[in-house]
Amino acid sequence: MSTSAKTFKRFTVTSALPYANGPLHLGHLAGAYIPADIYVRYLRARGRDVLFVCGTDEHGAAINIRARKDNLTPQEVVDKYYEIISAGFKGMNINFDVFSRTSKKIHHETASEFFLKFYNEGKFIEKSIEQLYDPEAQMFLADRFVTGTCPKCGHPSAYGDQCEKCGSSLSPTDLIDPKSTITGATPTLRETKHWYLPLDQYQERLEKFILEDHTYWKRNVFGQCKSWLKEGLQPRAITRDLDWGVKVPVEGAEGKVLYVWFDAPIGYISATREWAEEHNQDWKKWWQDDDTALIHFIGKDNIVFHCLIFPAILMGHGDYILPENVPANEFLNLEGEKLSTSRNWAIWAHEFIEEFPDKVDVMRYVLTANMPEQKDSDFTWKDFQGRNKDLADVLGNFIRRAGVLTHKYYEGKLPEAKLTADQEQILGEARELLGEVAQNIENFRFRDALKAAMDIATKGNKYLADSEPWQVIKTDPEAVKGIMVTCIQLAALLPFAFGPFMPETAEKISQSLGLVGGSWDTALQSSLLVSGHVIGPVGEVLFNKIEDSVIEAQVEKLKANAAGGAPEAVKVAEFKPETTFDKFQEMDLRAVTITAAEQHPNADRLLKLTVDTGRDVRTVVSGVAEFFKPADLIGKQALLLANLAPRKIRGIESQGMLLFAEDSEGKLTLVSPANPVNNGSTVA
Ligand code: 2FM
Ligand code: ZN
Repeated sequence: MSTSAKTFKRFTVTSALPYANGPLHLGHLAGAYIPADIYVRYLRARGRDVLFVCGTDEHGAAINIRARKDNLTPQEVVDKYYEIISAGFKGMNINFDVFSRTSKKIHHETASEFFLKFYNEGKFIEKSIEQLYDPEAQMFLADRFVTGTCPKCGHPSAYGDQCEKCGSSLSPTDLIDPKSTITGATPTLRETKHWYLPLDQYQERLEKFILEDHTYWKRNVFGQCKSWLKEGLQPRAITRDLDWGVKVPVEGAEGKVLYVWFDAPIGYISATREWAEEHNQDWKKWWQDDDTALIHFIGKDNIVFHCLIFPAILMGHGDYILPENVPANEFLNLEGEKLSTSRNWAIWAHEFIEEFPDKVDVMRYVLTANMPEQKDSDFTWKDFQGRNKDLADVLGNFIRRAGVLTHKYYEGKLPEAKLTADQEQILGEARELLGEVAQNIENFRFRDALKAAMDIATKGNKYLADSEPWQVIKTDPEAVKGIMVTCIQLAALLPFAFGPFMPETAEKISQSLGLVGGSWDTALQSSLLVSGHVIGPVGEVLFNKIEDSVIEAQVEKLKANAAGGAPEAVKVAEFKPETTFDKFQEMDLRAVTITAAEQHPNADRLLKLTVDTGRDVRTVVSGVAEFFKPADLIGKQALLLANLAPRKIRGIESQGMLLFAEDSEGKLTLVSPANPVNNGSTVA
């Protein structure tokens, strides 16, 4: 079960605010936007009161980084991408009630109000800390502006807030050998004051909120929350030394702004206020009424912020409801590889819309059929072509044939007919499938919901083909009436079934059936059309064929783009500063054999390896699960830094570090002696 038993009066549905530092790609769409749009369309079709909220996230270091790269000001960056992103959503028929921006005045006011309430009520901790400072650029360095070696897995280019290899969240001062990404200088430590949200004080309430009251959240979401809670929540700084963002609204905070992850989720509230002002509505009922269900659609990298940190902020404030559900998705890959903006390995929404204006619904269909609901999934152009064909052969074919024959035999007028028990049964089963569409959407199982919708079309198409009215008409014209009525009544369920997923197609089907209005409740229970009803004209072909050459051209384009991005990608890492032979001699490097390997129980990115050093058997935790299956490593010889101080990584002590070579794209290869050697052999 992924819903609570409670029935709500209204739904506040949010989709993650995309950073205004780049265009939308398919991964974004499949993760947080298409599922939200399906859910909202469905709720609306069932007559529920819904507000669908989004906007761009215009603060944070991601914007500064893009500005530096493109030689623009941060303001120019966000203005540019706000337009591109909004157009992308419109083109994909993702229709928010409001698409705001966190740079708007109303957002700065709302975020400041939140800060001040906590500040005045003494709900922050004020702390002076030593922070990394770039002496050349004369500025404190945001976490993302510092790179260095990850203290947990040894990855040499971890960021100050996170190691993308092992997934650990870090502080910039944890990094070994940190460097400023702005000037390359070695940062110095300088004292600075910050405000912290004492998340530890919310631990108990969050445990109850999630582990007791929301056990029905999706497994991937619940699991992540549980493991964060198990590690114990720590106070988190919610201010930064930066000049771009919401200024900290108190004296003595010059040059400081709110941490982007403090202000961004408040952006959902600001956007609601903006909408309410424009529509002369009350915003509070969407955020402060227990009868409202707050649903956040996000990608998996946003789980901790939406399930723990933002709820803690809402709890601390006191006037707000908490999320009822956070149906986060995993990631979408592209042609078997990780989507990557920097490598330009992506299909951009705005380009797709321009190149395939009549395939928007097909893309929505493909991204839903393949949605990364429980685990990462893959988009391929070949699959896109294949599913377009399925749609043409089943849904398109059925609607067209049923329409053409009804016009041919009855001039489009639904005849009077007493249906046989078999025909009633087919319609009954189709209505049951429609019920499954509903149930699955309500439980955030969009793949299953879409499959049930497609099963209705398949049922109709098969029935029409099997009953061959074009033959029967020659011998038993009376029987054809029942066949055609069954087909048309079944077809009338399809705009309901497909409406949330493929709104344009659903509209075209409605038109070709002359279906106006009609409710889900009727559709689920009885016939939608009466005899004598006149169907619409046979419309255009719903799904045109996609030629092989078109698909091949798209794959070529992807490859060419990625190759174009290559000069930057193949950059070879700079050499480290000079060291001494003595220092090298301190490293005890040994040849070992990996005798066992398994997934780390508490972290997706880590493997727990057992190595035989010739002197003892050790456990080593490596952040390499992304690149190797445990079975790939068992039996291999490798090099171990054997005298590295042991440290606990996600609950397991790692007794040394295995060496991997890393290419410019971050791909790892095991470093192995070229020929077998005795375990314990030294390296010189
Ligand atoms: O990960 C991201 O793209 C963030 N900009 C999402 C923010 S969601 C919300 F909290 F604003
Ligand atoms: Zn790491």
